[in-house]
Amino acid sequence: MFNFFKVQEVSHESKEIKLAKDFQNIPNISKYFKKNTGIDFDDQEVIFKSRITSFCRAHKISSFSSCLKLIYIDQELRQELTDYLTTNESFFYREFHQIEKLVQKVQSSCKNVKILCAPSAQGEEPYSIAIALLTAGVKPSQFHITGIDISLEAIQRAQTAVYNEKAIRNLSNELRSMYFEKKSESYHLTRKVKNQVTFKCINIFENEFTQLPNFDYIFSRNMLIYFDTKTRLKAQKLFTSHFVDANTEIYYGHADLTHMH
Ligand SMILES: C[S@@+](CC[C@H](N)C(=O)[O-])C[C@H]1O[C@@H](n2cnc3c(N)ncnc32)[C@H](O)[C@@H]1O
Repeated sequence: MFNFFKVQEVSHESKEIKLAKDFQNIPNISKYFKKNTGIDFDDQEVIFKSRITSFCRAHKISSFSSCLKLIYIDQELRQELTDYLTTNESFFYREFHQIEKLVQKVQSSCKNVKILCAPSAQGEEPYSIAIALLTAGVKPSQFHITGIDISLEAIQRAQTAVYNEKAIRNLSNELRSMYFEKKSESYHLTRKVKNQVTFKCINIFENEFTQLPNFDYIFSRNMLIYFDTKTRLKAQKLFTSHFVDANTEIYYGHADLTHMH
């Protein structure tokens, strides 16, 4: 079935003509992607088109319509495309003032807390929270963090927890030596931080998300910026349904809040 949609072997010249002809129309694939992930490329048609074109070329798929047919039936390819189109850029201690606020609240509450990071990207944010809580003397048994992201590749990287200098640029030498082991140019996160976080590949708009438990604190930073207003509201409603009670706090990123006004 998979091969059915693959491009036939053609000469280089005719292949170029075919690509030029078949890679003209992207609305359907863009609509499909938006419907499934919430991510809206309407204002970035050129970027979207160029990314999908190189994805198709890399997989020897001859047109956008073939690509669409394939991602309907091939779960693995669909995941690969999602990994390819999502922006997983993040770094440790990003917008740290919010994490500081959380630390103060957890310290003064004395109860065990569950924290959600949606999206977690490659783990930088949930691990930052774990590092900040542990450094403040909060007991490991007092908190647990769930990190979710739609990108499987990002989740796998989060589970590996190996970072480069750029990702940890905001961390002091003291924190680096307390929580990382340096091996050549890479920083390997220690087990005691990794143990505080569980990762899952979940799309917030899919059923699996509703099956997660409720949380005392939710971080959803720098994801809503990729959604249109309607999808943003839908996401916010989904988060509210995971509040433990009226005291649950949700932290959005600065950029998300700018988009909400
Ligand atoms: C720029 S990162 C933000 C990471 C981190 N929260 C931060 O602020 O640094 C945005 C992430 O949102 C994820 N994402 C986009 N749509 C999603 C969805 N529908 N469900 C779950 N994650 C999604 C992407 O895969 C990407 O890793």
